[in-house]
Amino acid sequence: MRAVILDALTRAQAARFAALDPLLPEPAPPPDGAVLTAALPGGERVAGVVVRTLHQPGAAQTLWSARDVRELHPIVGGTGGAGVDALLSRWRQRLEPSGPDSSCVVTWPSRDAEATAPLLAHGFVPLTVLAARTGRLPLGTSVCSVRRATPADLDALVDLAMAEVEYAALVGGGIVRPDARAIKRATVSGHLERGDPTWIAELEGVAVGMVEAWETDAQPGSWARTRVRAGRWVFVNCLSVLPSARGLGVGRTLMDAVHGALLGPRSAGSFLYYNPPNPLSPTFWARQGYRPLWTVWELRPADALR
Ligand SMILES: CC(C)(COP(=O)(O)OP(=O)(O)OC[C@H]1O[C@@H](n2cnc3c(N)ncnc32)[C@H](O)[C@@H]1OP(=O)(O)O)[C@@H](O)C(=O)NCCC(=O)NCCS
Repeated sequence: MRAVILDALTRAQAARFAALDPLLPEPAPPPDGAVLTAALPGGERVAGVVVRTLHQPGAAQTLWSARDVRELHPIVGGTGGAGVDALLSRWRQRLEPSGPDSSCVVTWPSRDAEATAPLLAHGFVPLTVLAARTGRLPLGTSVCSVRRATPADLDALVDLAMAEVEYAALVGGGIVRPDARAIKRATVSGHLERGDPTWIAELEGVAVGMVEAWETDAQPGSWARTRVRAGRWVFVNCLSVLPSARGLGVGRTLMDAVHGALLGPRSAGSFLYYNPPNPLSPTFWARQGYRPLWTVWELRPADALR
């Protein structure tokens, strides 16, 4: 496909995204990868770039992702659902055989309702949502004590983080790999060593909840800039409350600590990921003021693309 057509598609897509949702960032240029093109019945052409990523055993991503990921970045201009459908059909024709630990992924604006039917028809499920919050809500009354975690809390934090992985494996994309505990231990201790803020909630001296969150600059070229508008954001990485303490207000008290400590006058807002099939977290996050911005459509294994 000629560069001029790709450029026109990219600009039309940017205009469509801006009209759909004012919180979406301007689309970043497509990454390097295998280019797909497809024609609509009326002759209009659309394109996409497929990027393949292989996560090594022991990588943190393997706890929420297949190891062999093929991600499509659609460039369908203003064609809406018809363009997405044509591109997914072409992807199906071109897909190489894949193993059981594989996936196809498309990250698309949550408010683009037109894309939903074709994504479902091709076998994708809306497994993850990136949700953002830009306003402020009043902080509530604490139901437990919350403090910044220290390296001495590592064992308790790993137990809490594992409770989140185990729940996500029931209701979302989480995978309890044989080395999950070791991976979580390395990740949590890395955050503590780097000074990434981690809070721990205690009821009568017993650790019942944790949250990791930090500030990130959505600057040109950064990962965050592909997901949120330019500015300083708070990213909430992991919130977990032990099963026995859920529904008591511990999660809300932990998020009050995060929002109170990290959201300053210069903050653009905060964002995080959750799984729509999780019966607890979508309601919880909506009450916290978060709303879907991007939906990560996924199917596993990659051969399930139809
Ligand atoms: C999602 C989660 C962190 C929320 O923490 P929590 O301490 O249970 O949440 P809270 O008690 O502060 O608030 C839960 C809300 O859900 C409702 N709720 C009612 N009963 C509940 C129950 N048995 N369990 C969970 N939530 C319940 C409450 O109405 C409450 O809202 P309200 O305070 O406005 O009334 C927690 O359920 C959890 O760890 N889930 C498993 C892991 C997970 O999903 N993590 C989030 C990944 S994005």
